[in-house]
Amino acid sequence: MNSTSPISLDKKTRCIHYIDQTALPNEERIVECRSVQRLVKGIQRLEIRGAPALGVAGAFGVALAALQCRKKTIGPFLEVVSRDAELLRSTRPTAVNLGWGTCRVLDAIKDAPDVPAARERALIEAEKVFFEDTACCHAIGDHGARLLTDTSTVLTHCNAGALACSSWGTALGVIRSAIKAGKHVSVIACETRPLLQGARLTAWELSRDDIPVKVIADSMAASLMCSGSIDAVIVGADRITGDAVFNKIGTYMHAILARYHGIPFYVAAPLSTFDVNRKACEVVVEERGRDEITTIGNRTYVPHAVPVWNPAFDATPLELVSGIITENGIIRPPFALTDLIRGRTK
Ligand code: MRU
Repeated sequence: MNSTSPISLDKKTRCIHYIDQTALPNEERIVECRSVQRLVKGIQRLEIRGAPALGVAGAFGVALAALQCRKKTIGPFLEVVSRDAELLRSTRPTAVNLGWGTCRVLDAIKDAPDVPAARERALIEAEKVFFEDTACCHAIGDHGARLLTDTSTVLTHCNAGALACSSWGTALGVIRSAIKAGKHVSVIACETRPLLQGARLTAWELSRDDIPVKVIADSMAASLMCSGSIDAVIVGADRITGDAVFNKIGTYMHAILARYHGIPFYVAAPLSTFDVNRKACEVVVEERGRDEITTIGNRTYVPHAVPVWNPAFDATPLELVSGIITENGIIRPPFALTDLIRGRTK
């Protein structure tokens, strides 16, 4: 079973390589990123995206900043690297993993005695973040695979696959693990307007691995659920607060539909995505540009004078969630999220 790794760090050339996800599915273009400024632009443009992949990008970005910084003494060196980390962290405010990944590497270097030691520690920690994410995705996949029958059809929204992580995926990791275990699972991928992560990315990576996948427009989910064609919904998450799951705009709609039709609605996410001491109302939801709504290719579909609303994420109340699949196991309602963080799951 294959699964693409969308990002890597080359220590020798001091370069981050990543797949430009804006070019998929038409072109597999690899970006060679040699500066934090270029990485920030890539994250803003969603060349690299998806919560766990953003965590890895944040960690690699701080390591890159450490490799590139020319300061010779540790104090000024840490000041420059911290400024770069802050720049990275603020690029996308909703996905908690981006800030988490940058903090992991900053924490690892803060007590370094000198610049060479700081660089060495930054590289080691950034690689740890990458490999830990891969291990988490496989653990999430194995726990989640138990929830699916031999012939489940799973609806998913956006892309919570290998492209959104270091590899394997969270929601799609569950699918991959179920198939690896011999189940005949198939996927309904919602196209995910406005940026079509489902149609472009989920369909691309699943078809590449010969996993059965069919794309639908987002507006078709209700009819499909009503017809009995969906056995479960599984999505990823960008931030899980004490009361809600933040994920790609449209997720909340699927959760309501699933509840109405008696279909289980699962969220697959590593513990690094949890932010349980915060409430949904405290979270900043990223607002994206007008063009993403008004324009497809070279054509404009909205009159110039008409305003648009383009939030990137919505918040699904936990009461609509049947289970959260983590690397430590599956937590079910009532969600004792503080216990989960301490590692006490079923
Ligand atoms: O704006 P994006 O494409 O970064 O949004 C991504 C999502 O909403 C994913 O579902 C989420 O990050 C989970 S990825 C495992």
